[in-house]
Amino acid sequence: MIKLSPSILSADFSRLGEHISAIEKYGADWVHIDVMDGMFVPNISFGAPIMKAIRPLTKMVFDVHLMIEDPGRYIKDFVDAGADMITVHYEADKHIHRTIKYIKSFGVKAGIALNPGTPVALIEDLIEDIDMVLIMSVNPGFGGQKYIEFSGKKVAQVKALKDMYNKELYIQVDGGIDSSNVKKVIECGANSIVAGSAVFKNDEIEKNIKALKGNF
Ligand code: DX5
Ligand code: ZN
Repeated sequence: MIKLSPSILSADFSRLGEHISAIEKYGADWVHIDVMDGMFVPNISFGAPIMKAIRPLTKMVFDVHLMIEDPGRYIKDFVDAGADMITVHYEADKHIHRTIKYIKSFGVKAGIALNPGTPVALIEDLIEDIDMVLIMSVNPGFGGQKYIEFSGKKVAQVKALKDMYNKELYIQVDGGIDSSNVKKVIECGANSIVAGSAVFKNDEIEKNIKALKGNF
């Protein structure tokens, strides 16, 4: 079962409530929440207070992608704001194992995200402690970028680890996904799909989600 997780980074922030209801109505499974700090990535998005404001609007899983330096400092804020899963970047944390354990101590699912330049092999020792690996298929920081072709190969490498460890694991792909490439990443082993522009473009959420889900 593939989980579609629309990124609200591409939503109209002045109509966030309306957009959350629309993605739920038209078949999204999770809500992907892209938090950016202007340090780890060259852009600032939003933080826990915005998330807390939209939490009462839906029962969908809140899939929180922290693109922030030293994310351990803010885990509790995002748990308190209603996160169901928290993903931190391997590159942003000197003590990633400690942070994963800390996330799990709240009963929240934990993921590790890898930038395009970060090899999958680095996370082998952590695989048994995590619930998700997020393969970035663009360099993080902005919506609407072009899919980087070698990402499928990295997804397949994570799938091989999942099989080797016989582990229940979400393999998420994030960045530049649309109806032209979603099938390919699913064939490589992705079971969670993030899409921002492809869901919210032209304010045609119903049509856009149908076009994406037509591929899986
Ligand atoms: C990039 C974010 C992505 C992005 C997805 O830094 O992590 O979630 O907003 O948007 P699209 O699908 O437009 O690439
Ligand atoms: Zn993201």
